[in-house]
Amino acid sequence: MRKQKIEFEITVYESLTDLSENDRQLMEKAIASRAKAYAPYSGFQVGAAVALINGEVVIGNNQENASYPSGLCAERVAIFQAGAKFPGITIESIAITAASKNHSVNHPVAPCGNCRQSMLEYEVRQTAPIRVLFMGENGEVFKCNAVGDMLPFGFDSSFL
Ligand code: THU
Repeated sequence: MRKQKIEFEITVYESLTDLSENDRQLMEKAIASRAKAYAPYSGFQVGAAVALINGEVVIGNNQENASYPSGLCAERVAIFQAGAKFPGITIESIAITAASKNHSVNHPVAPCGNCRQSMLEYEVRQTAPIRVLFMGENGEVFKCNAVGDMLPFGFDSSFL
């Protein structure tokens, strides 16, 4: 037997203003999108913005439903829209931000497991990493270099 360590590196920025100009602008779009989330049940509003290699940006926010599981997270709204509108165009980055109507969110909010799995599909398909930037409403911003880093042992079509 052998033991194996799985490690990955993230970059931690003290705040939004420490990001590169491009990344800051992308996160600003996620923040603007967050304000338009439809989240009457949880009060937890999430915004996402996807940057494509052709310069386009596609936004998304969470869309809840009275039948709770029928709603969808911001990340998947954004990435599916990118896939629908710009099929085959490489996705470079996704910026994500969350805020709550009930408390302040000062810590980065990571994408849920379902969203990581959905994003991984695009990353594997395009054979190029998708950078993931995420934050709360204020405070630090975390940057991961690839979706696969955030989902070790991810499932992809190579298993089928
Ligand atoms: N949510 C997202 O939009 N993204 C995530 O990665 C986690 C959760 C949404 C789903 C639901 O509308 C609300 O946040 C509370 O879970």
